[in-house]
Amino acid sequence: MRWKLQFVLFAIIQIVRSQNGEDPDSDTEVETDSEVESSQFFSHLYKSNLQQLVKIKNDSMDPCDDFYAHACGNFDQAMEENADDFLPPYLYNKQDRMNFFTAVVGNFETVPGRLISQLYAECRKRGERKVFFTPTRLTSHWERMLEEIPFLARHKEVLSAWPFSKHQWERRRLNGQLNWIVLSAQLAAHGLPTLLHIYFALDTIYVSPMEELPCPSIADFQSSLSDVLGVRHHHVSHIISREMRVLCRGTRGELPPVRSLSRKARNTTTRPSEEQLLLDENTMDYFQQFFAALNFSEERLVGARKFPLDVKKISQAWEVLRHTEPRIVYNYVMWQAREQLRYPDCYRVSEEFERLLHAEYWQWHVLRPHLSREVALASYQLHTTRFQKLRRSKLSRRDWYGHLWPASVEKKELQVARILQNHAENYLNITELNENYEGLKFENNSFYGNLLILRRAQLRHSFVSPYVDEEDVNQPAYFLRQFLHFVLLFMHRPTYHYYATQGLDLWRDSRLLLDTDGHYTALDCLERQSFKHYDAILAPIYRPLGSHEIAEIFQFYRSFQYSLTDYHFWLQGERFAFAETFVMEYFGLDPRRVLFYAVAQQLCNRQTEIFAAQLNRGYMNLPEFQEAFKCGADRAMNPLSRCMINMCERPLT
Ligand SMILES: *[C@@H]1O[C@H](CO)[C@@H](O)[C@H](O)[C@H]1NC(C)=O
Ligand SMILES: *[C@@H]1O[C@H](CO)[C@@H](O)[C@H](O)[C@H]1NC(C)=O
Ligand SMILES: *[C@@H]1O[C@H](CO)[C@@H](O)[C@H](O)[C@H]1NC(C)=O
Ligand SMILES: *[C@@H]1O[C@H](CO)[C@@H](O)[C@H](O)[C@H]1NC(C)=O
Ligand SMILES: *[C@@H]1O[C@H](CO)[C@@H](O)[C@H](O)[C@H]1NC(C)=O
Repeated sequence: MRWKLQFVLFAIIQIVRSQNGEDPDSDTEVETDSEVESSQFFSHLYKSNLQQLVKIKNDSMDPCDDFYAHACGNFDQAMEENADDFLPPYLYNKQDRMNFFTAVVGNFETVPGRLISQLYAECRKRGERKVFFTPTRLTSHWERMLEEIPFLARHKEVLSAWPFSKHQWERRRLNGQLNWIVLSAQLAAHGLPTLLHIYFALDTIYVSPMEELPCPSIADFQSSLSDVLGVRHHHVSHIISREMRVLCRGTRGELPPVRSLSRKARNTTTRPSEEQLLLDENTMDYFQQFFAALNFSEERLVGARKFPLDVKKISQAWEVLRHTEPRIVYNYVMWQAREQLRYPDCYRVSEEFERLLHAEYWQWHVLRPHLSREVALASYQLHTTRFQKLRRSKLSRRDWYGHLWPASVEKKELQVARILQNHAENYLNITELNENYEGLKFENNSFYGNLLILRRAQLRHSFVSPYVDEEDVNQPAYFLRQFLHFVLLFMHRPTYHYYATQGLDLWRDSRLLLDTDGHYTALDCLERQSFKHYDAILAPIYRPLGSHEIAEIFQFYRSFQYSLTDYHFWLQGERFAFAETFVMEYFGLDPRRVLFYAVAQQLCNRQTEIFAAQLNRGYMNLPEFQEAFKCGADRAMNPLSRCMINMCERPLT
């Protein structure tokens, strides 16, 4: 980090000088080429970001009247002017990750990384023309599926006439050939569940109903089938679509149950209890097919714990399937597969197989040219010091150590870097991942086939791998992901940007700052503030707030305050902090103000009504805002009595 800032300082002097017409070359002799390159890189970073920041705000509007309006005042215009490369600020971080991924995906070195690399390249190539026999025609999505997915290719001939009408099905005697249970189980074993959701954790099997079975309108069914039904009569397409719609509504429980007749005929002496999944022939068949396709060892399968979830819903859905013509179920299962495999955005590969991607990143092959892992870990530790400190003091010893620390590592100092390292060595254990993914036989130029191969491998892996919830803010997995995002963000954005985005969210999502007393005091106070100052014309920013909004404002206020202090804490620790100040001064900003803008501008043009209130009411009550903007006593953004201050403990310093 020190180096980086030194470059920034150097670079900024260059910018300022060249803008002032001075000779920028006079003291460059001591710099090596790579230093100059880095400095140009970082100066570009700061320059373009700050330029955009300045461009979006409107200085004709006073920040002390309505900060949100001021900060976002020229947003639309800035967007129009740079339509090509303009990116709404709230998308920055994700875009940065995408850019990095697409730039380096070709250089991946690990086994899992190379699989992702091939898959991504094939995904991108899907649209290319086939030049052999029909140079003007693209191979369609459906044709590719039939060619590339082995268990479909087997029935390619027949399936080219899919979806099937009653007439076709009977004439071609498809009942014996095509089986919806086999199809659905095969798809599910390849990570494409359609009628039942089965998933795993270490030696554990969960069976649950499909959460949300897709069920579009008849017209939407028809339009999604237009490419395969194009030449057939409109009437046929309507009937087939209607059949599928009746089926999916039925399995979702939106139609009256079909079972009234059959119930009596069946022997119902044993009724399904809540915990027990009663297997009818279809489900048994389904499980058999599914597990055969996954090829787990018998021993492991028998020994595994099994958890059926929401048995009643499963039974109801499968009751409907039992009473539906097999042909219709087959049509519907295949329709789902086709829709799910459209895969419009190839970047999804990196999200779907994030663990593999992170394993590649963690090996650091593609990151090494930018910074070393040790420096990155040290920076992350420094940038999140205050957060981890409060987190540690808040969480009970038991939770904290239980989750993150081997009992032997009870040290007083912060060990985020160590925790991440330990966790990564387990969770992203490259030896284990290599063993699991090495033997996969990818075909060349077969995106759909390979996607399903990788999904199946992932599913198999989850059965021998402890469950890790990456969204759980108490788990090291969460911080590992944060850390990797931090690294990528750092290569693309100036430092303050981290605190305005990821750093702020870290506090906000952690719920460490929840405080019931503070919340109720704020509720009361903000309501009084609205009551006292609101005027639809003169002071619209004091509009009355819903209680949910107040909760948001409270959370925002506290998180922002902590993040801002983090930023200053970091600045103080930097020998080259004045570089940041110097850069910003050039753009008429300073480190006290910049975060207010950077955060506000994430919210420009998005649900203005909601975010303007959150932002303005949050900021106006912050003493830090008044210090930075020095609003006069009569200004809207400077209420006489402020809410929330002194109500909660002051931020750590
Ligand atoms: C900036 O704000 C002023 C005052 O409200 C307004 O007249 C002007 O149109 C704004 N500028 C742009 C570019 O929108
Ligand atoms: C239902 O099952 C019980 C025992 O399982 C059997 O005794 C009875 O005859 C069966 N009833 C019918 C209608 O099949
Ligand atoms: C299934 O697994 C066994 C070993 O567990 C292996 O020998 C066999 O080749 C596998 N079958 C398939 C089809 O992958
Ligand atoms: C990584 O995986 C290998 C093979 O499964 C195992 O032998 C090794 O102990 C693992 N290492 C760690 C740190 O978990
Ligand atoms: C797949 O393509 C790669 C590189 O284009 C080539 O080296 C390899 O031999 C091909 N594999 C098969 C099975 O065709």
